[in-house]
Amino acid sequence: MSVTQDRRDFIGLAFGAVAAVGGAFSLVAMKKTWDPLPSVKAAGFTTVDLSPMKDGEMRQVEWRKKPIFILKKPASAAANDDRDVVVGESRYTVVIGLCTHLGCIPEWKGSKNAFVCACHGGEFDADGMATFGPPPRPLDIPPFKIDGTKLVLGETSPEYEKLANKA
Ligand code: FES
Repeated sequence: MSVTQDRRDFIGLAFGAVAAVGGAFSLVAMKKTWDPLPSVKAAGFTTVDLSPMKDGEMRQVEWRKKPIFILKKPASAAANDDRDVVVGESRYTVVIGLCTHLGCIPEWKGSKNAFVCACHGGEFDADGMATFGPPPRPLDIPPFKIDGTKLVLGETSPEYEKLANKA
């Protein structure tokens, strides 16, 4: 084998190794972005401990293959008794992250304090209310139950029924 051939083989191998390591890091990063809170999934329920969340923080978890947005409202944000999930002293927006227009996944834009849907420009405020564009209604609230500092997605409760009846 020539020196040039050896060099080519070496470069090929080195490139492959870098790509493999990069791919593994991306997968880990994607998993962290998708489901960053300690959550437990069992038989259609997803349990999320809300206690590590900071004011203004938005996290995304998965429940029954759907994205769920959990936003911890800062103390300065206006209370919305028709939409807020109240846990102790804290208020959260908990919504299914599927646009009510045609089902795209909106993105949280902290700088705009809004969920923005890239598909047709729809916008929802921090409470999940439709504020701009084609979405016909607010983001849906998934069935939930509060268990201490934990949010149990997939189970109904009087708190959920109260919000669902106002939607
Ligand atoms: S799917 Fe979101 S605005 Fe159309």
